[in-house]
Amino acid sequence: MLTADVDEDVVAAAAERVRLVDFFWLDPRPDLVELAHRGGALVGWQVGSVEEARAATDAGSDVVTVQGTEAGGHVRGSRPLRPLLAEVLAAVDVPVLAAGGIASGPALAAVLADGADGARIGTLFVATEESAAHPDYKRAVVDASSGSTVVTGAFATECPLCATSPRARVLRAAVDRVASFDGDVVGTLTIAGGELPLPRGAGMPPVAAVSGSVDAMALYAGEGVGSVTGVRPAREVVADLAAALPR
Ligand SMILES: Cc1cc2nc3c(=O)[nH]c(=O)nc-3n(C[C@H](O)[C@H](O)[C@H](O)COP(=O)(O)O)c2cc1C
Repeated sequence: MLTADVDEDVVAAAAERVRLVDFFWLDPRPDLVELAHRGGALVGWQVGSVEEARAATDAGSDVVTVQGTEAGGHVRGSRPLRPLLAEVLAAVDVPVLAAGGIASGPALAAVLADGADGARIGTLFVATEESAAHPDYKRAVVDASSGSTVVTGAFATECPLCATSPRARVLRAAVDRVASFDGDVVGTLTIAGGELPLPRGAGMPPVAAVSGSVDAMALYAGEGVGSVTGVRPAREVVADLAAALPR
């Protein structure tokens, strides 16, 4: 994810090392697309509206991800995935990925049947063995039922995206916990041998290197969370997704 204060040197360095540089949250910019192309990478842009999808392809993006409001994490647009996906598919000529609330094989099959070329899946992979999420966060995702998420501005502290909009989908229980949390610091992040305090309402989701009140941190999760039934190896999750697709 790259924010409004995107570092162009980072884009150039990334483009020389990876196949695809993906942008989110800033308005599509031809100069950034060209910079990534010069480094040899393809460019993706995650968008929340038809207008933004057109702007991304006009700017030269090779692929577009359409994000619906079902998505876990920061929510760019204001429309649910499937009607928005249909309109974006009609509006652009590049491959289109669908994102938001896809947490099962049938949900993936449905967006592919709608015409998507693929999907971007976040929440389902939070609860994998390989995920860097804190174990309590993984457990909370597994235990959550459908209908237990909400779009909130409650986690807008030290959050670069929140300057333009604080909207993010999280587990509702985390919003309740942070609202009643007493104190300015919810925990500590151990990083590079040092310890950083995490302010109450911080936008960073809890990774394994965090200690403190994980249940009051930004527990990003999408509307598909009810389909996440255990912490499993990523390869099993991918195999299950693939098994649900028509042959
Ligand atoms: C824990 C978490 C962290 C995320 N971080 C990023 C990010 O750094 N950059 C980005 O472009 N999108 C990020 N997203 C959003 C995803 O790109 C995608 O839109 C979303 O996960 C799709 O919805 P789903 O979570 O319901 O599968 C994040 C989502 C989650 C759940």
